[in-house]
Amino acid sequence: MQPSRVTSAADLVSPRMACSSIGANRGSPLLVFESAAVVLKARRGSGSRPYKLNARVWPATQTFFLNNHMAIERKGAPDSRRAGSRRDHEAFVDRLVRRQTWMDGLAEGTQGLIGGAYKALGRPGQALKNAMHGTTIPAAGDFALAIGIAAGLLAALTGSTDFHDTYGHERRLALTHGAVMSVVVVAEITSFAIRIAAPPTSHIAAVDLATGAWLLALAGAYVGGHLTFALGTAVNRNAFAEGPAHFVKVGSSDDFPEAKKVRTDAGGLPALIVRKDGVLHAIGAVCSHAGGPLEEGTLDGDVVTCPWHSSRFCIDDGHVTGGPATFSQPPLLVRERNGAVEVRLAHPLH
Ligand code: FES
Repeated sequence: MQPSRVTSAADLVSPRMACSSIGANRGSPLLVFESAAVVLKARRGSGSRPYKLNARVWPATQTFFLNNHMAIERKGAPDSRRAGSRRDHEAFVDRLVRRQTWMDGLAEGTQGLIGGAYKALGRPGQALKNAMHGTTIPAAGDFALAIGIAAGLLAALTGSTDFHDTYGHERRLALTHGAVMSVVVVAEITSFAIRIAAPPTSHIAAVDLATGAWLLALAGAYVGGHLTFALGTAVNRNAFAEGPAHFVKVGSSDDFPEAKKVRTDAGGLPALIVRKDGVLHAIGAVCSHAGGPLEEGTLDGDVVTCPWHSSRFCIDDGHVTGGPATFSQPPLLVRERNGAVEVRLAHPLH
């Protein structure tokens, strides 16, 4: 259909052609208008600059041109029969909300409050408003990508450290997770480099690369989640332990000679009991890192070292003093009465 010239705003904004938005070429502001008056204002404001304006015209998107003579050309014309059909199928939410004219007052009041708040803040408020609009963060995507890269590098550091203490199938899964996420980080860094150094025409390739990296990260995250949720990597091995809330007998005083590490059952909780300088100490015997037997570890002062990966725990209260464990041991209170040794949890575990 041949373009037809629109000589007045009324031609452009008719009941069947209610424009909802209009945008100009790159670098120009997006204009939103719903009335002929605003269209006229837009025409005056644009002067004689040859902007190409794209407008969504109900029911179909049409293209308009504002040429040097401030004329608007309309490509095509809406099909009134089809337009009526679309109108019949207007979304329920649109039909419902369109009738709620009372909302305009509420909306205007809210807008006034928001605008007033920014205004009350003065120049800082204007700067904040610009930031919230995104005006002063033109490369928000680049900024977000840089944050993601920094987080990815930190995760690689912590993840590789955790990987160092994995074995067997768990180690293979951890390696898979690490390899996938490493590719993700490399792709993100490459995308960022393209955005910074390559010509603007390469920007879309950089975005595609980052998008692909994000999708790949989903796969890597799945493997990482499987490591934790299915294999229990990095899960506290005492997370589901039960222990005595009240004192229970675990033996006689003679069963716990000085400096000997004794493993015993304390109401269902494996407990490590050590007498040091004549005083009994008790903590959970199962290492929180990967379940190592602490009674087979070494004792140095009031610190016991796990025989498997060398995590260190204080026998006074079970707190972790050295990794790779990140969770403390369950602490137990000990008492000797009439030659019997009794223990109970120092606090509930759950
Ligand atoms: S099981 Fe790994 S440090 Fe104890």
